Amino acid sequence: MSSYQGVLHRYQGLLDLPAHTRTVTLMEGNTPLIPAQRLAEQLGGGFELFIKFEGLNPTGSFKDRGMTAAVSEAYGRDAKAVICASTGNTAASAAAYAARAGMRSVVLIPQGKVAAGKLAGALAYGAQVIQVEGSFDDALSMVVQITQKQPICLVNSLNPYRIEGQKSAAFEICDVLGSAPDWLCLPVGNAGNITAYWAGFKQYHELKSSGLPQVLGVQAEGAAPLVLGHPVDKPETVATAIRIGRPARGEQALQAAEESGGRIIAVSDDEILKMQRALAGLEGLWVEPASAAGLAGLTHELKAGRFEAKGKRIVAVCTGHGLKDPDIITKEMSRPLVVPPSLEALEEAILK
Ligand code: F0G
Repeated sequence: MSSYQGVLHRYQGLLDLPAHTRTVTLMEGNTPLIPAQRLAEQLGGGFELFIKFEGLNPTGSFKDRGMTAAVSEAYGRDAKAVICASTGNTAASAAAYAARAGMRSVVLIPQGKVAAGKLAGALAYGAQVIQVEGSFDDALSMVVQITQKQPICLVNSLNPYRIEGQKSAAFEICDVLGSAPDWLCLPVGNAGNITAYWAGFKQYHELKSSGLPQVLGVQAEGAAPLVLGHPVDKPETVATAIRIGRPARGEQALQAAEESGGRIIAVSDDEILKMQRALAGLEGLWVEPASAAGLAGLTHELKAGRFEAKGKRIVAVCTGHGLKDPDIITKEMSRPLVVPPSLEALEEAILK
């Protein structure tokens, strides 16, 4: 039997969780850091590029790292229910961990704006799914209010234990590379992930002198409050995971970018989708659109001549699996060819 027991066990002592915490795990974390040489070459070469493929977590996104911590804390004090607002991945993750702990889960999602694989996941794990006629930001405001009145545990990344568990991704990167990379590129939505990575890298550096990366946070153009410097009332992007106009941890995201000597930028939907296809076609990594945003941002900066990549070691975080959002691919696709069951027809189709 494998000795791996999930991120709370692996980084026990480094994650600030209350003593009453009782571990609920799906063996999340320990995701691969995959070299992406072909993509690096297409981007001009001369640097090392690694993909932290978080889509390989148990529910298909990075959310499981923080969720194991938040649900374990709630379970340890006998909470009976968890609630979150979500663009989909948090919902599926909360539902899965709650199911494992025998707890009820309620998830609020923006009506019609959640990818099929995420909604199906939340339903499969038994969550009560409520669609809000509004945005993620409206839904988040509702769950914050109800958890101030009712004994239901909030498991959005406003919950500090989500950040604690999520720090494990930064620790893993340092453990695998032997030090922090020069740059970390990642998508930014509600800004929990960037906050946690930065906290994790700083903590590891204090403990182990592992170094600190510069952080490139990337938003979608139609949902870029941190780039514009003000909230966006009607966020819009094909990357529905990061369709967020009022990030809960926006200040901390800006601070992470600034302290690290990095920045937060925006890219177009077209750039995001191009990178999604490039990752799949050049590296065999199919990620959901939002997950390609970090790399789309890197490409954007390289093209603009604002990024000195030569000799650098760059890690891009791909936050969720492509299977979460199959429609985005199949919608664009021409229908696969149909042939009769004969060798001639096959030869005709593939050799001509
Ligand atoms: N990538 C994916 C695939 C996501 O699902 C999210 C956020 C992000 C990136 C951005 O991370 O919010 O920590 O800045 N999804 C949340 C959700 C909002 O509800 O699943 P962030």
